Amino acid sequence: MSIKEKINLSKLPSHIAIIMDGNGRWAKQQGEERIFGHENGVKAVRDTVEGAAEIGVKYLTLYAFSTENWNRPQEEVAALMKLLVHTINIETETLNKNNIRLQAIGDLESLPKDCYDELQEAISNTKNNSSMTLVLALSYSSRWEIINAVRQIARGVEDKKLSAAEINESTIQNYLCTYNIPDPELMIRTSGEHRISNFLLWQLAYSELYFTDKFWPDFRKEDLFEAILDYQTRERRFGKTSEQLIS
Ligand code: IPE
Ligand code: IPE
Ligand code: MG
Repeated sequence: MSIKEKINLSKLPSHIAIIMDGNGRWAKQQGEERIFGHENGVKAVRDTVEGAAEIGVKYLTLYAFSTENWNRPQEEVAALMKLLVHTINIETETLNKNNIRLQAIGDLESLPKDCYDELQEAISNTKNNSSMTLVLALSYSSRWEIINAVRQIARGVEDKKLSAAEINESTIQNYLCTYNIPDPELMIRTSGEHRISNFLLWQLAYSELYFTDKFWPDFRKEDLFEAILDYQTRERRFGKTSEQLIS
């Protein structure tokens, strides 16, 4: 039985989020520049997207560039942005062929103009696709997102559109970039780092976390399936007791 066949399709996470980490270390291992790792990371993206779509995952969010990543050496940032424009341009056709819709979360206006334009074009060209939504987190950080949400809610209170007492979980949810996306049931991070690095802090409240030592350029759909199998062995209690879940 292949790993894929072992997956229980009736217990599939509908949203998987991935911190794609380890490109730089992967490149260093081969005696190459960091950007070589980013370039090879694209293959992993392609295979993972394909794998997720094959088994029927509804949302796949990929952390591609964080707010803090702007602080990297300027030539690495420039090369990453170039790679992004190029990849989005090339992959739009495949996304359409596979009925995948592209979305993006983050401070998109901070992206270089060619990157922003390419992204908006791909989002618009794939907007009617319905089998899976691929969400790219770009110039994204959760604290940025939460500050943004708080500002908008505060403005609503100032303008007397809502009262402070009315603010609840769904008010906050509605002002996050992911307002139209369910919370991830599963979050995967590659490269052996066990941290969240400012990713989906609100949305990951009850996600199952899965860590693998593989560097991102080595990650393939079988690794995704492995993570899903592991997820399917977990008991998600949401604060309740095991006994309550059975009855
Ligand atoms: C992840 O790989 C890609 C981005 C953050 C853009 P890294 O570039 O962080 O690789 P390491 O963690 O330094 O090996
Ligand atoms: C997190 O990886 C961001 C992305 C994968 C885009 P980093 O490599 O930037 O995270 P830290 O700095 O190791 O926490
Ligand atoms: Mg890293």
